[in-house]
Amino acid sequence: MRHWDEFLAPYKQAVEELKVKLRGMRSQFELGEEHSPIEFVTGRVKPIASILDKANQKNIPLDQLESELQDIAGVRMMCQFVDDIKRVVSILRMRKDFRIIEEKDYISYKKPSGYRSYHMVIEYPVQTINGEKKILAEIQIRTLAMNFWATIEHSLNYKYKGHFPKEIQMRLKRASEAAFRLDEEMSLIREEIQEAQAFFTKKKEQTNDHRENE
Ligand code: GTP
Ligand code: MG
Repeated sequence: MRHWDEFLAPYKQAVEELKVKLRGMRSQFELGEEHSPIEFVTGRVKPIASILDKANQKNIPLDQLESELQDIAGVRMMCQFVDDIKRVVSILRMRKDFRIIEEKDYISYKKPSGYRSYHMVIEYPVQTINGEKKILAEIQIRTLAMNFWATIEHSLNYKYKGHFPKEIQMRLKRASEAAFRLDEEMSLIREEIQEAQAFFTKKKEQTNDHRENE
């Protein structure tokens, strides 16, 4: 494909807009002095080399990338607690600025690899100088522990191209179980953690106010 910049432009626009919008959710929770179910939000446009690799692997013709590759635009929302994910999902379902095409719950049903995450594929309208263009984007919602595991596994996958040595495979499986237990343990002391976090947020605010007055 010759016009990559042109092809990717609406995806870039969408990722930038979605980052602002979804980060805005966090600010709203903070304003309400409520525990934010969102810890942080990241986004990226898939690099051209990865688009080509995936199209090749999945036998997707290059003129069908738009409809067949759902994660050219990708946004991730990280949560502290597993229960926060449900909250975020239900808020996303109420939004009027995109349409949810598909949801995949790899938390209730983790992948054989050990991967856990909640996925949404959305149809997002980008406003261009030639009118509206609807693109597909993927939102992944996961805890910090799920993200830690997925990030590590992804780099190893890159190195071994999916063919992990037995030892690594076993370690990854155990790490996935450990990440699951970490999420469980954190859920059990959630109230305690949130109380402490609310306290420190207040304290920080007071210190900031104080500095501003100096
Ligand atoms: P893809 O070909 O990966 O898009 O699979 P799919 O179309 O069946 O979609 P799925 O929801 O399974 O995966 C979409 C995205 O989730 C991937 O592009 C990864 O970012 C992430 N993902 C899925 N499975 C794994 C996994 O086993 N390990 C890691 N690290 N990430 C995964
Ligand atoms: Mg996919």
